[in-house]
Amino acid sequence: MASAPLKSLALLFLSIAPVFSSPILPLGVDAILPRQGPGACRNQSCEVATIAGSTGATNYPYKTYPMGYTMDGNCCIVRYFPAVKQPIYNAIAGQQAYCASHGGDAPADANPPGVNQVTTTYNPAPAKRDPAAAAAAAATTCKPKILIFAKGTGEPFDLGITVGPMLQAGLNATEWDVRGVSYDNSFANDYCLGLPGGVTARGVLHKAVSDCPNSIIAMSGYSQGAMVIRNAIARAPASDVAHVKNVVNFGDPFDGAAIGQYSGPRTVYCMTDDGVCGGNFAVSLAHLSYGQDISAAIAVLEATKK
Ligand SMILES: *[C@@H]1O[C@H](CO)[C@@H](O)[C@H](O)[C@H]1NC(C)=O
Ligand SMILES: *[C@@H]1O[C@H](CO)[C@@H](O)[C@H](O)[C@H]1NC(C)=O
Repeated sequence: MASAPLKSLALLFLSIAPVFSSPILPLGVDAILPRQGPGACRNQSCEVATIAGSTGATNYPYKTYPMGYTMDGNCCIVRYFPAVKQPIYNAIAGQQAYCASHGGDAPADANPPGVNQVTTTYNPAPAKRDPAAAAAAAATTCKPKILIFAKGTGEPFDLGITVGPMLQAGLNATEWDVRGVSYDNSFANDYCLGLPGGVTARGVLHKAVSDCPNSIIAMSGYSQGAMVIRNAIARAPASDVAHVKNVVNFGDPFDGAAIGQYSGPRTVYCMTDDGVCGGNFAVSLAHLSYGQDISAAIAVLEATKK
């Protein structure tokens, strides 16, 4: 678990990350999926992906991991994904009592806590509109492709300051509408495995599908944002997921884990020495050097097919 001073240091690094993102400074070795076969994970990345409920798996082999967990983070996880409550309580001494005295573990609303359910209120019903008017509006305002991007922990602005703006700058602006996910990207929500942001991103996806039903959608995230994108897809209405045609993540704590409800193309840029990609939130210089992958990622995104 990172200490408070370490976290501040990481935040400082994050704010000067563009310096380290220069393509002339290759600081790590990329491992792009499928490098160990589809679905491969390093260390505890698949385990944390499963605990978040983002893989579509139905058993939760919670050990004394994840390394780097926090008691508060675990209480947050069980509020968003009650199916993991008992495995977490069984594995960690004192966790249940801790949650009882720190905000409880009840889901935020009364939605049925199904396997892939995030229980926070979300209304997937599209806004009622005259279909002809909506089609006319879409024809004039929608670009053929939409990228939904979720920034990393602590990054300011809609698209963050590292990966997001570089993707936007590199994509063909005539074809691509780049939409950032403005979610609560605090460190605390890293330890909640990006679940709060996943709810926000699910809404951004739904709005994109409602606004522009004829556009194809790609989704991308960096660091906590990578978890956010995965959680959103795994919990979105299937009719929204059907519009998602590509997923490209960077520094992804869930590394090669599967994404529930999604079987389309996906690419994960993860440095071999990036501990975040091992699912333990250890921020090193490698985690801040994905600028060198941007041009490859842009080519992958530009090739997104209907
Ligand atoms: C961007 O896309 C438009 C529309 O498809 C195309 O005409 C144009 O050549 C593209 N620009 C570049 C630089 O590829
Ligand atoms: C995986 O764990 C090993 C052993 O603890 C460590 O050396 C390595 O850096 C970790 N890799 C990642 C990507 O976290």
